[in-house]
Amino acid sequence: MSSSNRTNIPNSLNEHWMPFTDNKNFKKNPRLITDAKGVYLTNHQGKKMIDASSGLFCNPLGHGRKEITEAVSKQLDKLDYCQPFNQGYGGSFELATRISKKTPEGINRIFYTICGSTAVETAIKIAIAYHRAKGDSKRFRFVGRERGYHGMNIGATTVGGMINNVKTFASVLMPGVQHMRHTHLPEHKFVKGQPDTGVEMAEDLERIAMNFGGENIAACIVEPIAGSTGTLVPPKGYLKRIREICDKHGILLIFDEVITGWGRTGSAFASQEFDVTPDMITMAKATTNGVIPMGVVAVKEEMYDAVLDSSKNPEGTPELFHGYTYSGIPAAVAAGLAVQDIFDKEDIFNRAKEMSPYFQDGLHSLKDLKEVVSIRGYGMMGGIEMKMKDKPGKSGFQTFKHCYDAGVNFKNTGDTLIIAPQFICEKKHIDEIIEKLRTGISNYSKS
Ligand SMILES: Cc1ncc(COP(=O)(O)O)c(C=O)c1O
Repeated sequence: MSSSNRTNIPNSLNEHWMPFTDNKNFKKNPRLITDAKGVYLTNHQGKKMIDASSGLFCNPLGHGRKEITEAVSKQLDKLDYCQPFNQGYGGSFELATRISKKTPEGINRIFYTICGSTAVETAIKIAIAYHRAKGDSKRFRFVGRERGYHGMNIGATTVGGMINNVKTFASVLMPGVQHMRHTHLPEHKFVKGQPDTGVEMAEDLERIAMNFGGENIAACIVEPIAGSTGTLVPPKGYLKRIREICDKHGILLIFDEVITGWGRTGSAFASQEFDVTPDMITMAKATTNGVIPMGVVAVKEEMYDAVLDSSKNPEGTPELFHGYTYSGIPAAVAAGLAVQDIFDKEDIFNRAKEMSPYFQDGLHSLKDLKEVVSIRGYGMMGGIEMKMKDKPGKSGFQTFKHCYDAGVNFKNTGDTLIIAPQFICEKKHIDEIIEKLRTGISNYSKS
């Protein structure tokens, strides 16, 4: 079928092997989205739903932003592609400057990737390259955390801590990776914001450093708030303690801010929100409001200098043998620049910060619902955990389907419903999300 007469419903669902999907189930009962505008989505049955997870945390500025689509379209007309190796175009430099103005001071060298996974992979490689540049080649170990999610290439899968993502691929994962325990303690079940207890979980890093030699560890990577496993908010003082232990052993600290970055916590980055500065920050998703894939690693200037200064390569040879065909391509950069304009014009991070208490109150008002066993959240992100049925994931998915029918769309991971509204939401939209969640969850309980 030509693209001009393509309909909303394809003739066949067989050929597309869908990612992270129960393909058999989906193809029997498809959920196709046909239109998106503002905070609403429409499905192939013409049903309108409110988007309660900003897509996959991608579109905090709302769907169908004209400023972004027009910027991309203009860019494609002028320069659709230029190779990013030993060549460039002005926009990618301009965007790097804009991004570096919002990252914490000193983290101002910007490497473009294609997505969150490739940002994490890049950060892993930069950590190794930096230590080598400093004459410290023995650091090869990495530390991640249980219930962390960092993406799906081999490096990101290894440092992540979600067992189902690892099981099938255990034989090909990176060597030398250890995991700290996650920070979600039983007493955190209905805590709003940062829990008071659990700072001692950071000592896991010290134990790993003791067991494997801190001098052998290249970097520790954490999401400041674990997003994909359902908004696990760090205990007070936890991230600061992780920073101290990294400093003590010369371990680099990577904050994976693919979800928490660009305002989700109410500050530009969680690093600023929690006042802890890592050595690298990975980001993706909201960088382009989700419309064109783009990942970014923001790197400490001193690390960039060390890698460049140590290079003895002849002229024209890269200092870092790493990059992607789509690193900072013009269309993605145009979207990124338009997004930066909207961030500034609409004071979007403050808008998220101001709406956060209202959203968090709404979320926690669902505490009385039968089958809800935990609610946690911070800023404009939250997790509602459903009581497990006979198998993990079953109640989460069934609740998701009841909520979808009730007119609210989001992502579930296992038995947790992940709620992350768009920052353009007004109070009435938050009310609508909470009301429809109440209906969907109640209908699931009755089913
Ligand atoms: C914290 C974090 N890091 C990395 C990724 C991977 O991003 P991508 O799917 O764009 O590769 C995700 C995706 O959800 C994420 O949440």
